[in-house]
Amino acid sequence: PREAEPIGVIGVGWVGLVTAACFAELGHEVWARDIDAAKIAALERGEVPIHEPGLPELVARNRDRLHFTTEMAPVLEHAQLLFCCVDTPPTYSGDADLSRVEAVVAELAEPDDHALVMKSTVPVGTGAAIKRRLPALHYVSNPEFLKEGSAIEDFMHPDRVVIGNDAASSDFADRVAALYEPLGAPIVRTDVASAEMIKLASNAFLATKISFINEIANVCEEVGADVAEVARGMGLDARIGPHFLRAGAGYGGSCFPKDVQALKQLAGNSGYHFQLLTAVIDVNELQKRRLVGKLQKHLGSLVGKEIALLGVAFKPNTDDIREATSLVLAGRLQSEGAQVRAYDPVALERARAVLSNVRLCTSALEALDGADAAVLVTEWPEFRELDWAGAVKRVMRRPIVVDGRNFLDREALQAAGFVYEGVGR
Ligand code: UDX
Repeated sequence: PREAEPIGVIGVGWVGLVTAACFAELGHEVWARDIDAAKIAALERGEVPIHEPGLPELVARNRDRLHFTTEMAPVLEHAQLLFCCVDTPPTYSGDADLSRVEAVVAELAEPDDHALVMKSTVPVGTGAAIKRRLPALHYVSNPEFLKEGSAIEDFMHPDRVVIGNDAASSDFADRVAALYEPLGAPIVRTDVASAEMIKLASNAFLATKISFINEIANVCEEVGADVAEVARGMGLDARIGPHFLRAGAGYGGSCFPKDVQALKQLAGNSGYHFQLLTAVIDVNELQKRRLVGKLQKHLGSLVGKEIALLGVAFKPNTDDIREATSLVLAGRLQSEGAQVRAYDPVALERARAVLSNVRLCTSALEALDGADAAVLVTEWPEFRELDWAGAVKRVMRRPIVVDGRNFLDREALQAAGFVYEGVGR
């Protein structure tokens, strides 16, 4: 049996809490520290402040191995591996804001017997820059590849684990690798800069796949092909693969937009113009707005029209609305003069803070009642289960559905007398 390694987690946000809970589940004692006293108090009461399936159960089950604190001292006292999970939000220029990472580094005074294990997504070169300032600090890059909504599954069954370090920190890196060994995934051991780049390049590549299939979808609409069929046929080529080829209303979330921008910016700062990523970003922005044109095709002017948005979250199974298509779409529709109402099964609370002048409804049917058109923005399963032919048809003013994720049953809707517009079909 492997020896349990005490673990420090700094920054108990979404990544930090998932990491803490999963390491606890693997049998380790975890000291998790956040400067937000209210958050730590809530966690101590057993409350999980974020929406992530399975996480409350995991935290509860490992409660005795999870030590939440607002102080750094107990973390440094008990653990030598310090997983840095603070956020690195985008600045106005698109560069990552590293102030929270810097604040963590500043607290590591005599760091010889600790290693900072960087999980936060940082620009390539961050590890080297920190090492230049604190040569005695042991530094290991260990980027996360967790998806919201399946973060625990992703942590416990990763496609790969990436660990980057220099020769001086190889013992600590070995200990980090040992933590992941029970998961049975390939462990990529490399240098710090390459590990940092693997994270940014992976997200940028996936975003490129999405923008690519979205452009194929837009051409499909012109030439009469069906993008779902095209993606199916393409995806069987092992070199292409079937994943991340769902055309739709653009990518959102806290990672893709930020990381693609950050990589583009990083390249630019070092004198290289990353042309492809500029296009990936532009295509995504346009894709979020394209649904407006589909509405206008059937409604003409949108002035005074009632438009129902089904889904606010950037994807299903999360209440995260950062960079969500719904936000861009709502703003665009309002500037065209439309009245917007919206419903989401879990994201309404967060939506309230940012969606102004949008009527937030407590059910899909309420949002659809009296609407001139419905726009499916997030593919929540419950939207497929609505009684479209019956109740929905009765309450809508006009039977027009724009399916931004090609998620609904097109044939059934058309048979029920709806005007159906998908993406790329
Ligand atoms: C992503 C990465 O997958 C993860 O590895 C990284 O660590 C963080 O960013 P996440 O933001 O949770 O995870 O979302 P993901 O499920 O990857 O979806 C991102 C966006 O792409 C969503 O808006 C989704 O709707 C969109 N998407 C995804 C598509 O439009 N088409 C696809 O085929 C796949």
